[in-house]
Amino acid sequence: MTNRVCELFGVRYPVVMGAISQTPELAAAISNAGGLGCIAGAAAPTEQMREKIRRFRELSDKPFAINFPIVLTPEKQLNEKMHLMLEEKVPVVITSAGNPKLWTAFLKDGGCKVAHVLPTLYHAKKAVEAGVDAIIAEPAESGGYRGEQEVSMMVLIPTIRRAFPQVPLIAAGAVADGPGFAAVMALGAEGVQLGTRFLATVEANAPEHTRKLILAAIDTSTMSAEGRVKPRVSKPDFSMEVLGEKRQVQMGQVSALITDIKPVEAVMRELIEGGFAAARASADALGELAAARV
Ligand SMILES: Cc1cc2nc3c(=O)[nH]c(=O)nc-3n(C[C@H](O)[C@H](O)[C@H](O)COP(=O)(O)O)c2cc1C
Repeated sequence: MTNRVCELFGVRYPVVMGAISQTPELAAAISNAGGLGCIAGAAAPTEQMREKIRRFRELSDKPFAINFPIVLTPEKQLNEKMHLMLEEKVPVVITSAGNPKLWTAFLKDGGCKVAHVLPTLYHAKKAVEAGVDAIIAEPAESGGYRGEQEVSMMVLIPTIRRAFPQVPLIAAGAVADGPGFAAVMALGAEGVQLGTRFLATVEANAPEHTRKLILAAIDTSTMSAEGRVKPRVSKPDFSMEVLGEKRQVQMGQVSALITDIKPVEAVMRELIEGGFAAARASADALGELAAARV
């Protein structure tokens, strides 16, 4: 195992799939490629969820996660599903959009690893108090549920890193390639969670309108949605231009960097090998500056 996130989740690479899909097939492709596949847990009824977990296990013997945005999962169902996590011995549960105190101890006592997705240092403190195994920090740029606050990746990761050096930290969002991966690792993250990039893979099999919007997006094509959890979505005027209708699709600002639909394996290679190349190029450039200082 190569770092704390790999060790915690039992994966080869510290690359987590965001909760972009309920399909075990995509999660299995990502776990089989060395990352941590994830099945979105909010929507499917409990028994369907059990089938999805079992289907995943037919496709992969690797670790995986189930994600629950707490305030978006009906309470009775959430209760049933949390018990299901223990019954089915789900290795990792990722909670988001809600209070980490509610379920962390229950899940950990039952043998699950628990990571919580959060958008600010204030929320990180609450997650650490709740005893989470890892923090997934989601900045303003990301395609996820960031709530009212708009903290950028450049500030969020170092702030949480300094406050809680003892807790494994994963950066969620704004990463699609090697340079992005190298950048968040330089800021102090020990892993990354990708949503939009994995949505634009062959295995994600996303609807045509989603693919079109991600591929056409530029830096200004997304905005924060209204409402309680405020995911990032495509702007209505941009959707109109691309699709001929004002349909809004959840996607990150990083869509601007995504220009193709490719297999999961290729995304993973680009992150790991491209990340190493980008980090080395930065180290070389900084090394020259440091040498010139004398
Ligand atoms: C279509 C879509 C659906 C998502 N659904 C969830 C969800 O159910 N629960 C959750 O915690 N995050 C959800 N997210 C956020 C992702 O898990 C991930 O943190 C985020 O997409 C990372 O940002 P990126 O898109 O810039 O990579 C979703 C993101 C997208 C794009």
